[in-house]
Amino acid sequence: MAFDIEMIQKVYSNLESRIEAAKKVVGKPLTLTEKILYSHLWNGNPEEVYTRGTSYVDFAPDRVAMQDATAQMALLQFMQAGRPQVAVPSTVHCDHLIQAKIGATEDLAIANNTNKEVYDFLSSVCNKYGLGFWKPGAGIIHQVVLENYAFPGGMMIGTDSHTPNAGGLGMIAIGVGGADACDVMAGFAWELKFPKLIGVKLTGKMSGWTSAKDVILKVAGVLTVKGGTGCIVEYFGEGARSLSATGKATICNMGAEIGATTSIFGYDEKAEDYLRGTSRGDIADLANQVKAHLTGDDEVYANPEQYFDQVIEINLSELEPHINGPFTPDLAWPISKFAAAVKEHNWPAKLEVGLIGSCTNSSYEDITRAASLAQQAVDKDLLTKAEYTVTPGSELVRYTVERDGYLDTFEKIGGVVLANACGPCIGQWARHTDDPARRNSIITSFNRNFAKRNDGNPNTHAFVASPEIVTALAIAGDLTFNPLTDTLVNQKGESVRLDEPQGLEMPIKGYAVEDAGYQAPAEDGSAVNVIVDEASSRLQLLAPFPAWEGTDLKGLRLLIKAKGKCTTDHISMAGPWLKFRGHIDNISNNMLIGAVNYFTEQTDSVKNQLTGEYGPVPATQRAYKAANIGTIVVGDENYGEGSSREHAAMEPRHLGVRVILVKSFARIHETNLKKQGMLGITFADPADYSKIQENDVIDIEGLTSFAPGKQLKVVLHHEDGKTESFAVNHTYNEQQIEWFKAGAALNLIRMNKI
Ligand code: F3S
Repeated sequence: MAFDIEMIQKVYSNLESRIEAAKKVVGKPLTLTEKILYSHLWNGNPEEVYTRGTSYVDFAPDRVAMQDATAQMALLQFMQAGRPQVAVPSTVHCDHLIQAKIGATEDLAIANNTNKEVYDFLSSVCNKYGLGFWKPGAGIIHQVVLENYAFPGGMMIGTDSHTPNAGGLGMIAIGVGGADACDVMAGFAWELKFPKLIGVKLTGKMSGWTSAKDVILKVAGVLTVKGGTGCIVEYFGEGARSLSATGKATICNMGAEIGATTSIFGYDEKAEDYLRGTSRGDIADLANQVKAHLTGDDEVYANPEQYFDQVIEINLSELEPHINGPFTPDLAWPISKFAAAVKEHNWPAKLEVGLIGSCTNSSYEDITRAASLAQQAVDKDLLTKAEYTVTPGSELVRYTVERDGYLDTFEKIGGVVLANACGPCIGQWARHTDDPARRNSIITSFNRNFAKRNDGNPNTHAFVASPEIVTALAIAGDLTFNPLTDTLVNQKGESVRLDEPQGLEMPIKGYAVEDAGYQAPAEDGSAVNVIVDEASSRLQLLAPFPAWEGTDLKGLRLLIKAKGKCTTDHISMAGPWLKFRGHIDNISNNMLIGAVNYFTEQTDSVKNQLTGEYGPVPATQRAYKAANIGTIVVGDENYGEGSSREHAAMEPRHLGVRVILVKSFARIHETNLKKQGMLGITFADPADYSKIQENDVIDIEGLTSFAPGKQLKVVLHHEDGKTESFAVNHTYNEQQIEWFKAGAALNLIRMNKI
């Protein structure tokens, strides 16, 4: 049902010729990453060598996946494109909006009620435009993708940072913003800076308490949260081939924690087993025919230093279980050193909650290994001291592990099984606590552990480890417990030891599920109505942005001169605002509220030039809009860094800002501004930033002859009657200038002009 075999056949039929062409052009053997990238070029066969870390290249991804929080704006934009169907297979997964409170059944019922309008909207859009829809409770996007859609040698984008999870099955899978997803669904190329390559050679074989999670916890310690930025991490070596496909997915998933573009493993027997085990034997058969192209070349792996920009080697036979944290995933502790670290740093040693599962670690292997420890607790009369929760990644996994008795085992130690959803991983956790001000510790098998991520409480010290270690520590209720060396006292007063965890990579009786929670789209969606309540506070259909009026921009008022860092979070804050992601007008009430006003050093306080009063940025901008007066935002270096969140570009455009003038842009944000029809320009001389005064009225000249590489002119009319002007740069190409003139890229797409 859920995969598109013809699409995969097409990808594989092109593989050989494109890889051969790439080798001729590049003139050397290729890594797996290069093979997949060069075989997914938008223009077909490779004709030039791309410079890693420099060249911007257009790609043709095979799939798009979206989670329910980010899908809302992506799909609202897609509807603007006027296309009858999505151009590539795409899916939506309802996983982020379910709050964990009591347990799976109750929590899911509440979510279905609270989020009904969002689910109805997403379901109807999917039905109309040909997207697969995974209902609330079906599972977490990345686990569902791994089970149904990921395939070796493929390329996908997803509107979630842990999209790289699919790299466990040999797919280049990259997290993007909704605007990029919209472009690809509308049939356009997707641009990526050709990544640098980090090779991780895995030797040896894991045993005992060590699991795949420990590989990435170790790598995070080596590379830190920034070490993978702009890079794809490729794993290889005999150790890699010894890991299960789901273990590999865990490693790729958490590549996001080192900032990597994505991570990938080559196709091998474990990948084949997993494909067959998840009812995709036909894909395994196809993959076997092109096997040689689904891993890097032997010469590359024999001399990795010659072909990768950086190489790390890890011996799995010597790898200890790790615990990372608190507050950052790169603070890596081998378990033998962890107890001392807890004492030295005075972290709360009492463990209050252990949480396993999530998209990162809820495979059959993870669950069975954790359950083997839970069973020991029962058998050895141990009382589990900490609270314990289990979040299955999908209904397929949940149903199968329930059938095989593992959920019962968890319940015997007081475990609470939560819905197949993100829940505590993304702060959707109504944690009950007697005293939120108390410093406390939790440990999870999730991926992120920044302050407040799980329960919103800055006093919570969150640590990350494998499900096995989480379970052992939850049984002990003590962060300083090392299950490899320490004993516990049971209810009879006896000293007992936990044996090494045992598990199964895949179920002996096979996976099973009664209702996976999938809704296929209508064959012909033209008659399907998209459901949006006009009174909704969470959803609003988009109206096209107006086209450029054809003249220079005169008489703009300065809305804000932002000082210092201005990230997408400063421009469009997250937290409580996330619930308005599908409602452009409501979410625009957070526009630039985190930016520091250069003149007052305050946030969310700017001068309204019409009244002389200071007020919040969004309200002030709305006042200018009501008076039909355009405005300009001035910013500092690297304006818009952070995420690819398209709201940061859409909100100013929606509220009537006409120009963003900065010292420099973060590139993704600059592109997002261009897509939304905003004029984004940079000071030719950054020192001109100092010329902008609070009461300036500003003109932009040169737009009637707007052309690539040609500077524009900014004229400042100061309050004292003096005038100053200076040149500004832009990076618009011909196509992007057309976007600007049309009012947005989507306006052109809708008019079928691109
Ligand atoms: Fe969800 Fe956490 Fe994964 S938010 S998608 S379970 S990283």
